[in-house]
Amino acid sequence: MSFRRSSWFPLAILAVVALVAGCRAAPEQAVPEFESVESLLAQMTLQEKVDMIHANSSFTSGGVPRLGIPEIVMSDGPHGVRHEHTRYYDKATGVEDASTYLPVGTALAATWNEELGYDIGAVLGSEAAYRGKDIILGPGINIIRDPLNGRNFEYLTEDPYLNSRLAVGYVQGVQDQGVATSVKHYIANSLEYERRFVNVEMDERTFREIYLPGFRAAVQEGEALTVMAAYNKFRGDWCAQSAFLLDDVLRGELGFEGLVMSDWNAVHETFPTVLVGLDIEMGTDLGQEWGKPDYGAFHMGDVVVGLVEGGTVDEAVIDRKVLNILRVMEAIHIFSGDRPPGAYNTPEHQAVARKVADQSIVLLKNEALLPLDRGGLETLAVIGANADRKHAGGGGSSQVKAFYEVTALEGLRNLLGDDVEVTYVPGYTVAREAAADPAMIREAAAAAAAADAVVYVGGLIHGYTDEWDDNAYDAEVLDKPDMMLPFGQDALIQAVLEANPRTVVVLQSGGPVDMRAWEPDTPAIVQAWYGGMDGGSALAAVLFGDVNPSGKLPMTFPRRLEESPAHALASYPDENLLIDHTEGLFVGYRYFDSHDVEPAFAFGHGLSYTSFDYSDLEVSAGDAGVEVTLRITNTGPVAGGEVVQLYVGDDESSLPRPAKELKAFDRVELEPGASTSVSFVLGDDAFSYYHPDRGGWFLEPGSFTIQVGSSSRDIRVRDRVEL
Ligand code: GLC
Repeated sequence: MSFRRSSWFPLAILAVVALVAGCRAAPEQAVPEFESVESLLAQMTLQEKVDMIHANSSFTSGGVPRLGIPEIVMSDGPHGVRHEHTRYYDKATGVEDASTYLPVGTALAATWNEELGYDIGAVLGSEAAYRGKDIILGPGINIIRDPLNGRNFEYLTEDPYLNSRLAVGYVQGVQDQGVATSVKHYIANSLEYERRFVNVEMDERTFREIYLPGFRAAVQEGEALTVMAAYNKFRGDWCAQSAFLLDDVLRGELGFEGLVMSDWNAVHETFPTVLVGLDIEMGTDLGQEWGKPDYGAFHMGDVVVGLVEGGTVDEAVIDRKVLNILRVMEAIHIFSGDRPPGAYNTPEHQAVARKVADQSIVLLKNEALLPLDRGGLETLAVIGANADRKHAGGGGSSQVKAFYEVTALEGLRNLLGDDVEVTYVPGYTVAREAAADPAMIREAAAAAAAADAVVYVGGLIHGYTDEWDDNAYDAEVLDKPDMMLPFGQDALIQAVLEANPRTVVVLQSGGPVDMRAWEPDTPAIVQAWYGGMDGGSALAAVLFGDVNPSGKLPMTFPRRLEESPAHALASYPDENLLIDHTEGLFVGYRYFDSHDVEPAFAFGHGLSYTSFDYSDLEVSAGDAGVEVTLRITNTGPVAGGEVVQLYVGDDESSLPRPAKELKAFDRVELEPGASTSVSFVLGDDAFSYYHPDRGGWFLEPGSFTIQVGSSSRDIRVRDRVEL
């Protein structure tokens, strides 16, 4: 029995989809031939220019019909093209606007696979193009600083280097399809609590060494065409009106030449916004009667016409914004009309979703339980309401109307067919305030006792329904209340383990949960994230050994919340709306390693069904940089993937530095007994740090330790180098 919806659609339907769901207000005339965007600008009236610098519907910004300049059509989200919200989509038509539901950001990051970053981007760009979208509102690359942040699942990692490498591939993947990305949320939008009003403070080194690198890479290497200014304030100024962020840093230092849009309703006032480098004010409405917004009333709306006519604002300021917009329109073929047509839920797109899911799953712990042997099983008990839960539509703006979503239970039943009897009991109820239910726990324990092995699937959820105000735990507009498993799962897991010790605990979540109540008694633990449309198939394949797990944690899993640096060295904001990054550089493993605090599971951690040997490390400093070579051998029984991680530690710096920092990684696939050489060339940037007094990056001469391993805490070989 297949759970997959067939991937073909009669072309007629697809044509209708493309026509209705993605069409734009047809310009009054075709775009005229023009020599340059400057010459096009010269034909525009002031009102027409102002029409272009703010939204004119929930997901479009204004065009100039008189000149044949179309609107720009945008769509969420980072892991799938969101269903239609624009005025073009008439639900009455029942037009299909589903899309490929890709694994979420932290799942992608857990693959540590730059090529998959590109592949995910390519799928997104292709499906956005097919749906008539000009900009996909992603990737989300905010640093994962606090385990409580509701939107961590949408982001990638706690580490700036891993963040940068994955962001670049993703941006290039999308934009090679002729669609623009919007790298978000610039900057330091790392909590959802009062997100439109909190003020983020951090020192300059933290800003430049931890939070800016992902945006720098996306802009300078990925050539991102748009950036989305975040909701929060940064050092007292709202990001959407910060001259420091938008003019001095983004355009002045990083050389960004695209357009900057605000997050939705992230603009609070006309001045100074209209004077700084914000090009488009996006939003749904400014509090007008819901459903009847007056887009002309936006802060960068019609009021600006009067300001320019009255001489308060120089028209050249508006011209700069419009030119940025026109250049992006030109770059994504809006005028030439020769954008690749894109495709829609093709087998190739599905294959990318599955491959990312396969490589994202992290085997946290395994004491001789996994892989399960289907030949040795008569009955498998699947326990946990998440096993039968679909996640695609939840979480807020990143929601996806998936063509299909294979749950863990479906994936296991698909894989095992009639060979193994698969029983299922939910064990807990997903509902507000739901607590441990003794009757449900007894039922689950009985099912566990009656089975040869147990797969527990629990964790967190995006929301009770797909409605915005039902968001919960891993979702937008709110943070988690704590790191605990909800719905009484701790008691349930303990009862299930007692009934049958041959239990693997699978967690679906965007990040860490507190496992102390049951981890010591659990022989196997798997972090499955939210694995996209084929997440259930990937999980089943990993649990039964058809896929050898190779995922690595892209963020540290603390034992408990209080040991996370955002809570140990800093504090969650209160009514003062201040998020003060007093932990500074010591985010994630930088804190745990430098303060010698033991995490539950370390950054970069992930087990395999095979084993890898690291040997023959050679480190030599030369003109091209510091060359590092080593040999990796698969010393175990099965083929597998290994992410070789290289960390640099500055043995003697005049300013404090983290004990080690990720500066390179490579993913290798090896057959049993095979080995390969891995080499890295480290430039000055791998050894330098930002020196505030010098106002720049500084390679301080001295000794550095090169550490290479299978995780930040599983260092296999190391050597020193003098620079
Ligand atoms: C939301 C999100 C942003 C999203 C935008 C459009 O509030 O912060 O990530 O792209 O608005 O939905």
